[in-house]
Amino acid sequence: MLLSAIPNCNSRLISPAVNQEKGNQRDERQWMNPQRQLKFLQRLTPPLFAAFVALSPIITPPGSYAEAIDVQRGASLFGHACIGCHVAGGNIIQPGATLFLKDLQRNGVDTEEEIYNITYYGKGRMPGFGEMCTPRGQCTFGARLKEDEIKLLANFVKSQADEGWLNIGNGGD
Ligand code: HEC
Repeated sequence: MLLSAIPNCNSRLISPAVNQEKGNQRDERQWMNPQRQLKFLQRLTPPLFAAFVALSPIITPPGSYAEAIDVQRGASLFGHACIGCHVAGGNIIQPGATLFLKDLQRNGVDTEEEIYNITYYGKGRMPGFGEMCTPRGQCTFGARLKEDEIKLLANFVKSQADEGWLNIGNGGD
């Protein structure tokens, strides 16, 4: 009489014995389920997100792969043509003209374009490496570099400067 007066949805607030009496135990579990599921999903979300982030390099556009190859080619060219004077981004001939950002900025050579120009035509005791570099005395006596190689180098030097030449391993400037 009393039980039937209580709405069904409130019956679980009464003692478990009452629930059992009414055969409500299964109902109660079903009632818990959505909440548990929600909690479970909430707990699952960070790992899922982490997994997505971890996998995302695999699904990034091929451009970044090409960029990685460019950096490698740039580093390799730098190792052949520049490292003799600019080891680890420094300058063994002229200490005030390193390839670190603060020198590049002070000397007005902190854009890829300017780095390209100085690499192509040279400046002072820095030999030019461009195929059309003149006068001869200002140019390298070694192998000249192609335009796209100098572009790669300019890009490489600029990006290394922005990162403080950390990848190359350097004791500071
Ligand atoms: C023979 C030594 C030598 C080599 C090899 C050399 N450089 Fe230089 N580089 C210098 C000198 C010296 C300067 C300073 C020139 C000046 O300002 O009068 C300089 C300056 C620079 C600067 C401007 C730096 C600044 O802070 O003003 C850049 C950029 C640069 N070199 C890039 C390169 C690249 C790229 C290569 C390889 C293709 C290279 N250099 C090879 C000697 C060299």
